[in-house]
Amino acid sequence: MNAPQPRSLAGIATLTVAVIACAAFGIGFYVLPGTNPQLGLWQRMCRAAGFVTAPERDSEAAASGLTNVVVPRSALRMGTSDEIGRGATLALRCTACHGAQGLSGANAPNLAGQYPEVIYKELLDFQRGARTDAVMGAMVATLSDADMLDLAHYYAFLPRPEKDRTTSMAPALVRVGDPMRNIAPCISCHGAKDGKTGAPALEGEPNAYLVDQLNAFAHGSRKNDANSAMRNEARLLTAAEIGLVADHYAGASQ
Ligand code: HEC
Ligand code: HEC
Repeated sequence: MNAPQPRSLAGIATLTVAVIACAAFGIGFYVLPGTNPQLGLWQRMCRAAGFVTAPERDSEAAASGLTNVVVPRSALRMGTSDEIGRGATLALRCTACHGAQGLSGANAPNLAGQYPEVIYKELLDFQRGARTDAVMGAMVATLSDADMLDLAHYYAFLPRPEKDRTTSMAPALVRVGDPMRNIAPCISCHGAKDGKTGAPALEGEPNAYLVDQLNAFAHGSRKNDANSAMRNEARLLTAAEIGLVADHYAGASQ
């Protein structure tokens, strides 16, 4: 039997170290961080090294049915006249349902005077599949991000008609909620003065639209509300209460 040569021993040792290094690299950077199958090789390696890359937003939104819209600062201010002008041109495709002045005669939501960040977010949610509606999904398919911001600024700029304030004594649910049943007052989020960013203005929306959306949140067929804010609220309401708050907002002025 020949004793192994010192040189080949060194070679085997080097090879062993190399194999162990490769295996450790593969396990550390690829296999272990690979729990999320939507990530590519590069993203897995970045994550393993401690650099968290932005998730692939579209596929995640579509997969989970949840919203992940980050509203840019420009959506929170009044539009410039250029943005409003471009939005007005794009909005010619929308008038059939949302009305020439952003006020629908057909139970589609009124968009006139809606907060721009709400319009922008809803359009993105329709485009990414976080909120589903066959018509709206098709309408937004080809819009760019800039188009959606322009449309948001245009509709936010249009006035909402004032309605008679004396007819709008708000029901208790709207003003104070029902603490015994854990129902927060609608105005704590939807209030015009001290509401929360991202909660749409509801005043003057078509009654049927309000009822539809509250039912959709209650049943979970609409789930693009961040942190389930609306689903948690709507599932506590009875059908009669949904009718009551919808009557109030449909008849109320801003
Ligand atoms: C054929 C009718 C139709 C057309 C055309 C249409 N929409 Fe809509 N839109 C709807 C309906 C119906 C809804 C409510 C969907 C639902 O029930 O979730 C809606 C919802 C919306 C919402 C959500 C509003 C909210 O308060 O949550 C926005 C924003 C919107 N549309 C913008 C647009 C824009 C911008 C266009 C043009 C590019 C457009 N729509 C074209 C019917 C239409
Ligand atoms: C904790 C905050 C919160 C409370 C309380 C709350 N809402 Fe909301 N609501 C929201 C948010 C946020 C949205 C927007 C969800 C999204 O991102 O699409 C919303 C959306 C809605 C919509 C859909 C509007 C549209 O145009 O898409 C309706 C209708 C609505 N709320 C009605 C109510 C009513 C009625 C009450 C009281 C019974 C209420 N909400 C209480 C936060 C709240």
